[in-house]
Amino acid sequence: MPAKISVRGVNKVFATGAQPVQALKDAHLDIAANEFVTFVGASGCGKSTLLRMIAGLETRTSGAIMVDGRTMTGPGIDRAMIFQHYSLYPWLTVRENIRFCRQLKVHTDNRTAADVEAASGRADALIQLMGLSHAEQAYTHQLSGGMQQRVAIARALMSRPEILLMDEPFGALDAQTREVMHDLIRHVHRIEGSTILFVTHDVEEAIYLGQRIVLMAPQPGRIDTIYQVPLPKERHQDMKLAPEFLALKKVILERIRETSGIKTDLQQLEKLSSLASIDKVQA
Ligand SMILES: Nc1ncnc2c1ncn2[C@@H]1O[C@H](COP(=O)(O)OP(=O)(O)OP(=O)(O)O)[C@@H](O)[C@H]1O
Ligand SMILES: [Mg+2]
Repeated sequence: MPAKISVRGVNKVFATGAQPVQALKDAHLDIAANEFVTFVGASGCGKSTLLRMIAGLETRTSGAIMVDGRTMTGPGIDRAMIFQHYSLYPWLTVRENIRFCRQLKVHTDNRTAADVEAASGRADALIQLMGLSHAEQAYTHQLSGGMQQRVAIARALMSRPEILLMDEPFGALDAQTREVMHDLIRHVHRIEGSTILFVTHDVEEAIYLGQRIVLMAPQPGRIDTIYQVPLPKERHQDMKLAPEFLALKKVILERIRETSGIKTDLQQLEKLSSLASIDKVQA
């Protein structure tokens, strides 16, 4: 069976600035249908670029990306992207935001009366699944960050995408809301059978959610190591204290540190703190 997504020798060079930037170098990756893969790595290592290329929102300099064995040439309704900032429409209510994508041309072109019927049923089901029933007539500025992100996820799911591309979707949420969202997205993964690619800066989040973790490294942006998560498919929050969870977290954190290229210059820091104490004496 071909991979759901196949990244074959993909390179991306941005040549817009004074110096060209190799955002991604010779990336190879196969992702199976219904797999949940998380991406971590230092800032600037090409995580968002790779996701945007798979979404068809960014061109590649060279290489190929295949979806279901076919070369992907642009955005499609089989893929939905969810960003860190919820990008909802403030003039629409929760329900209208969720239904919005069904009104886009790409959806209306091949829509039948039965589709319209199903769409409203699906909107209801998603509103319930996301725990938004009490807020469906609210406008987005009346919602908390967690609720806004649930609306964004429901909207992305409206078109039944087979692939969900999530770029630091929970980065702006507090720790408790994030835990709720983790279990929610795992539930979505199970019941919708979707293939999920999820970028995060939080290694714990990457291990808890992912079946595999792709660690990327910067300058040039590249895939460094792929880790299999040694946990059962079904997860629960207590697993975050399991020895194998903590051991993997340690390994990944160390590797991110090694590959980040950011070194803390302790001597410089000491110099700074001694300057601060001189300021205090002079004041
Ligand atoms: N549109 C663009 N034009 C020029 N350079 C870009 C553009 N988008 C990204 N880059 C550069 O490509 C590299 C990879 O960027 P990317 O946003 O993919 O990193 P990232 O891993 O998502 O980082 P972060 O963790 O900070 O979100 C960076 O050096 C960035 O400056
Ligand atoms: Mg990014």
